[in-house]
Amino acid sequence: MSSQENPEENLPSEQDAAHGAVKVADDPFADPGLPAHKPRIQDIDERAARRSERAVAFMFTLSMLATIGFIASYVIFPVDKIVFIFPFGHVSALNFSLGMTLGVALFSIGAGAVHWARTLMSDVEVADDRHAIAADPEVKAKVMADFAAGAEESGFGRRKLIRNTMFGALALVPLSGLMLLRDLGPLPEEKLRKTIWAKGKLLVNMNTHEPLRPEDVAVGSLTFAMPEGLEEDAEDFQKQIAKAALMIVRIQPEEIKDKRELEWSHDGIVAFSKICTHVGCPISLYEQQTHHVLCPCHQSTFDLSDGARVIFGPAGHALPQLRIGVNDDGNLEALGDFDEPVGPSFWERG
Ligand code: FES
Repeated sequence: MSSQENPEENLPSEQDAAHGAVKVADDPFADPGLPAHKPRIQDIDERAARRSERAVAFMFTLSMLATIGFIASYVIFPVDKIVFIFPFGHVSALNFSLGMTLGVALFSIGAGAVHWARTLMSDVEVADDRHAIAADPEVKAKVMADFAAGAEESGFGRRKLIRNTMFGALALVPLSGLMLLRDLGPLPEEKLRKTIWAKGKLLVNMNTHEPLRPEDVAVGSLTFAMPEGLEEDAEDFQKQIAKAALMIVRIQPEEIKDKRELEWSHDGIVAFSKICTHVGCPISLYEQQTHHVLCPCHQSTFDLSDGARVIFGPAGHALPQLRIGVNDDGNLEALGDFDEPVGPSFWERG
């Protein structure tokens, strides 16, 4: 007789079992080896169950309050409000409150669900046979019956306080995401279009903080500059420098191909925004022979001898140029603000 004709020949031997193979018995699931079930305090004491119920409801209610707090924070705090919060230091009041309230709202839902499952839902151990993947109709009917029994045991229908507060928490928490859609517009266009550059503002070396003079800028060098009066410890320094930072290079005037660039330069010294027009990284790599600058983030490359036009990479438009001149003291100065927004494109940029 072949092994196919005699299924017992396919059963693992005692030796297989000793090496970890499954030992087949008549009913391998009759005793899966679970310890005896121990009822929890909530299973035998209705007052303990009520306490757990109130704890779960408290967490769901806390989630609802946190979501309301999220919405209130969004409306109350201006974007630029900075507050000191121990131990975080100076932080944006808006970002901090949005993060905290959304975190509490989501955590409370999770904590409430876990506490509910651990203390009030049935924790009776159940052993089930392995079976073929496709279930037959009786199994499906049993699953539905088990599901209904599980729903009954969970107290979902019976414990209305938990159910209602959970519905409330789950219904409110998506509002946090909806509120953020408000940020899609309209944009603070004025702030995006203007920098603190203005006629007569001196160009200050970003490293030495000294006003720049034409003789400080050698051909082939790359200098970073910022407007005079911008203090590094000022509260809005990062916000201002993110728009006003400049790259200064000197190119032989005859090598400048763009007519307007030449007009806006001083003796071959040109000043361009240091902020990449792709997504706003600071540009820092200058190739002096070609006058190309490279943004390290996604390799956008701009030709500073040709109006800083994009010659490679994902940036959408040329780097804005700042018109410069020299004042009576011989210092480089701005002759106005940029005539277009610096940095990445935005919808209303035009
Ligand atoms: S930010 Fe400069 S290439 Fe992407």
